[in-house]
Amino acid sequence: MKLDRKEILSALETISIAGEGKNMVESGAVKNVLTFGNEVVVDLVLKTPAMHIKKRAEDDIKKLIHEKFSPDAVVKVNSKVEAADNPNEIKGKSIPGISNFIAVASGKGGVGKSTVTANLAVTLAKMGFKVGILDADIYGPSMPIMFDVENEKPISVEVNGKSKMKPVESYEIKILSIGFFTAPSQAVIWRGPMASKALNQMIFDADWGELDFMLIDLPPGTGDIHLSIMQSLPITGAVVVSTPQAVALADAKKGVSMFLSDSINVPVLGIIENMAYFTPEELPNNKYYIFGKEGAKNLAEDLQVPFLGEVPLVQSIREAGDYGRPAALQTASVIENVFEEITRNIVQETVNRNQSLPPTEAIKITTMAGCSAVKKN
Ligand SMILES: Nc1ncnc2c1ncn2[C@@H]1O[C@H](COP(=O)(O)OP(=O)(O)OP(=O)(O)O)[C@@H](O)[C@H]1O
Ligand SMILES: [Mg+2]
Repeated sequence: MKLDRKEILSALETISIAGEGKNMVESGAVKNVLTFGNEVVVDLVLKTPAMHIKKRAEDDIKKLIHEKFSPDAVVKVNSKVEAADNPNEIKGKSIPGISNFIAVASGKGGVGKSTVTANLAVTLAKMGFKVGILDADIYGPSMPIMFDVENEKPISVEVNGKSKMKPVESYEIKILSIGFFTAPSQAVIWRGPMASKALNQMIFDADWGELDFMLIDLPPGTGDIHLSIMQSLPITGAVVVSTPQAVALADAKKGVSMFLSDSINVPVLGIIENMAYFTPEELPNNKYYIFGKEGAKNLAEDLQVPFLGEVPLVQSIREAGDYGRPAALQTASVIENVFEEITRNIVQETVNRNQSLPPTEAIKITTMAGCSAVKKN
C-alpha cells in the first residue's frame, strides 16, 4: 500500500500516548508526518521524559504503519520532550496560567474599543471564565474609570521570592493599567522604549494568576504599542471594533490587514460593529442608522473574517462607562443580551482557532537605522 501522509495521520488518530486521554494527533503530540518513498518520519512531542512512554509510543507508531500500510516501511520517530500542558507555555514567552490572549483593536479612535472590552470582560466572567484586562492604551487609559477603580493602586506581593504587582480587581475582573500609576489629570508622555518597558512590567512582573482570557485593550491605530504587545505575547486572536462609518471602516480594514500580514500572522477572531444604530431607551423598536447601516458586517464579509455581532448606540452604555459599572452587568437588559451573544461568538471562534491552528508565535522585531523589519521567531 502506498504511503500517504494524510492517511497515516488519520491512522495515528486511532492510538494515543500512554497516560494521555486524547489520541496522539488530537493531543498535539504528533507535530508532523513526512513520507519519502518507502520511509516515514513522524515528529513527536512528549509531555514527559519517561523512557518507557517514549519507547511505547514509538513502538505503537511503527506497528501501526507496518500493519496498516506497508510491512517493510522504514519508520523513524523523532521524539522530543516538552513538559508543558498549556500551548502558550511551550515557547517560554507566555505567562504561565493564562490560556488565551485576546487583543481588542480598532484602527480609528473613539469607536468603542474600551467600552466593548469592559463589557466583554464582565460577560465572560458571568459565564464563569476567569478574566483579566491589560489596558495597553498607555496614552489614554480608560479601564480605571470604566471599572470605578481610579483611586486604587496595585499592591506588591511576593511570588516565589520575587515581588510582583497584584492587579486591581473589580466586578471579578483583574485589571492593570498605566492609569493606576499616574494622577488622573497628568498627561502621560512616553518615548517608545519607555512605553514598551511599562507594558512589559504590567505583563510579566504581575501576579495575574490563572486566567482563561486576558483581554488587551489597545490604543487606536496600528502603531508601536501594537508591535510591542505582539512582540511580548503570543496573541491568540484579535477582535476588531468598528462603527459602520466609512472612515472607521477604512481604518478597521488596515487593522485587520496588520494582524493578518505574513510577518505578524495573528488570527482575527472577528469584527464587532459598535454604534450600529441609535435606539432611544423609551422607544426600543426605533432604530436610527446614524453612522450608516451594516458597514462593519459587510466589511467582515469582504475580508472573510467572522462577524461577531452589533452593539447599538444607547445612552446607558455611555453612562455606565462613565459611572464605572459596565452596562452588560445590568441583568435582564437588552445590553446584557447583546453582549452575551457577541461573547459567545468570541468564545466559539477562540475554540475553533485553538483547534485548527498552532499557538501564535510572538513576533521578533529587528530595527536597522531608521527602518524596522518584522519577522517571526
Ligand atoms: N455602544 C455605545 N453606546 C453609547 N456610547 C458608547 C458606545 N460605545 C462607546 N460609547 C461611548 O463612546 C465614547 C468612546 O468609547 P471608548 O472610549 O470605548 O472608545 P475607544 O475606541 O476605546 O476610544 P480610544 O480610541 O480613545 O481608546 C465613550 O464615551 C463611550 O462611553
Ligand atoms: Mg480606548
